[in-house]
Amino acid sequence: MKSLLFSRFLLLLPWVLIVIIVLDIDSSRAPLPALSPRGGAEGGSGGARPPAPRRRPEAALPTIYAITPTYSRPVQKAELTRLANTFRQVSRLHWILVEDAAARSELVTRFVAGAGLPCTHLHVPTPRRYKRPGLPRATEQRNAGLAWLRQRHQHLPPPQPGVLFFADDDNTYSLELFQEMRTTRKVSVWPVGLVGGRRYERPVVENGKVVGWYTGWRADRPFAIDMAGFAVSLQVILSHPKAVFKRRGSQPGMQESDFLKQITTVEELEPKANNCTKVLVWHTRTEKVNLANEPKYHLDTVNIEV
Ligand code: UGA
Ligand code: MN
Repeated sequence: MKSLLFSRFLLLLPWVLIVIIVLDIDSSRAPLPALSPRGGAEGGSGGARPPAPRRRPEAALPTIYAITPTYSRPVQKAELTRLANTFRQVSRLHWILVEDAAARSELVTRFVAGAGLPCTHLHVPTPRRYKRPGLPRATEQRNAGLAWLRQRHQHLPPPQPGVLFFADDDNTYSLELFQEMRTTRKVSVWPVGLVGGRRYERPVVENGKVVGWYTGWRADRPFAIDMAGFAVSLQVILSHPKAVFKRRGSQPGMQESDFLKQITTVEELEPKANNCTKVLVWHTRTEKVNLANEPKYHLDTVNIEV
């Protein structure tokens, strides 16, 4: 009798052990929080936020405002997707997406609603007379972004630490770049890859100060830097309410200088990216797509957004 009980016990033992192990694994998984996007789009199109967000140390971080001009073309959604995939990984980033259009497009409106990050969607069309090769692009859109930023902060109590950055929709941004620009006190600068007919352009730094520019194109520019090569603190934007991008007399490549000379001097610039010796952003440009075989009239049985 005793030996029968003992053999039953031995038979059951491995099963009991397995059940205990499985229960243990399950309970150690339980505290994982559910994944959810960090923000929603403004204007009612945002998704549900997680309940009762706990205060994290990141609440003290300055907000990075990224102003992105964008216009309708076959690669637009692909570019915006790439950009959102980067921005979604950056804490406290507010995306100001400005469409070059007379109205908000359905494509961008839908995209913003599902982007999963705090986003403001604006639009302003470039006047027809300025839509010509050889003229600067996105002047009106960047100014619309600046106007929104200034207006918003009129109604919010100071101090609101923030940093503004102009993020064109076709460039490539490393995550490290955002860590660097986050500590901008007035205006910060860094190298940009694949621009100016060279592998990179960069501010030349001596003893922690910018003393010149390494560039292969129009070295006479007061600030020989691409739009992707600098950030400005929100305080500087607010204390220079008239600083905007100008159409009059402006040439491509001079917009950056025309804007920066309204708010700072070369001596004042703060070099980032290890004294401007690291490339953390690339002025990539997307190839024009080949649509030679696209039918003249709609042939497919479904309508697909691309
Ligand atoms: C270079 C600079 O990197 C830009 O910052 C500068 O605006 C531009 O020159 C200029 O010529 O003004 P590039 O690659 O030649 O850039 O210009 P794009 O990337 O074609 O355009 C810059 C931004 O403006 C992009 O975000 C693009 O989506 C937007 N854009 C362009 C418009 O909103 N409307 C347009 O008609 C064209
Ligand atoms: Mn570009």
